[in-house]
Amino acid sequence: MGKWKTSRVWRSIGLLLLMLCCMTLIVSASNPNTPEGFLIIAHRGASGDAPENTMAAFEQAERLGTDFIEFDVQLSKDGELVVIHDDTVDRTTQYTGAVDDYTLNELENMDAKNDEKTDDTDEKIVSFEEVMHRFAGKLGMLIEIKESKLYPGVEEKVAEVVRRYELLLQVNGLEKGRNFTAVEHVKNSVGIIIQSYDFQSTRLIHSLLPDIPIAALIQEDQHPLSEKTLDELVSFADYIHYNHELLDEKIVEQIHHRNRKVMAWTIQSEQDMIRMKKLGVDGVITDFPG
Ligand code: G3P
Ligand code: CA
Repeated sequence: MGKWKTSRVWRSIGLLLLMLCCMTLIVSASNPNTPEGFLIIAHRGASGDAPENTMAAFEQAERLGTDFIEFDVQLSKDGELVVIHDDTVDRTTQYTGAVDDYTLNELENMDAKNDEKTDDTDEKIVSFEEVMHRFAGKLGMLIEIKESKLYPGVEEKVAEVVRRYELLLQVNGLEKGRNFTAVEHVKNSVGIIIQSYDFQSTRLIHSLLPDIPIAALIQEDQHPLSEKTLDELVSFADYIHYNHELLDEKIVEQIHHRNRKVMAWTIQSEQDMIRMKKLGVDGVITDFPG
């Protein structure tokens, strides 16, 4: 009887240890490079104030003190990364046709505007390189890879640029006499997060850039996420970025329970902002970051 009791105690201890191990694994699986605190992210820059995805929108976001700028990346005819939301230039320029009908040089000479805005601006389409050059290390960068199916190899191209800038930021930090690592940049909210609706694409980016936080974008056709899908997503994604209209307490809890962060897009009113804060999301993506 005494022997039986002892083996039961050992079994319970074993079970407890196993549970502790599992919990440690879940906690340590999250990327340590995710920034702390509630993040305000300027959607396509401060696109409520300036033409989306332009330098004016990003500069306005910087003036407003936003944590991150969000922008969309596609490929030009000559294989260059360019910052534009749609896969055609129809809505946001005076031209028509697919983005990859035009070379980077041609795209850079197109006026960029918001669809609702008729007033002319001097803003042009900009390259990914230009945005990185101007803002990497100063503001957080939420890079969205668009239409990855249209552009085979786009992930490798993005990864090459991101790697280069991460390295540059580290070197600059060292030159200034500080041990300024890429991780610190991210923790100070001047790091990089890469997102996509395409889970294959985000999974690939994670394998190319394992230290860079990844976000899986969730829209109506992926909602509701099953527990199984969510488990798959958190195996490579640090963030789940949810359409705010679909978000509720249960989803936030499901994501937080997996030790991942959830951010809401696209918040356009005070009322929605209040609702998101009540739900306990970790940040919002908004056209009005001020
Ligand atoms: O960051 C979320 C948001 O950008 C996703 O929607 O269509 O504006 O790229 P969309
Ligand atoms: Ca976007």
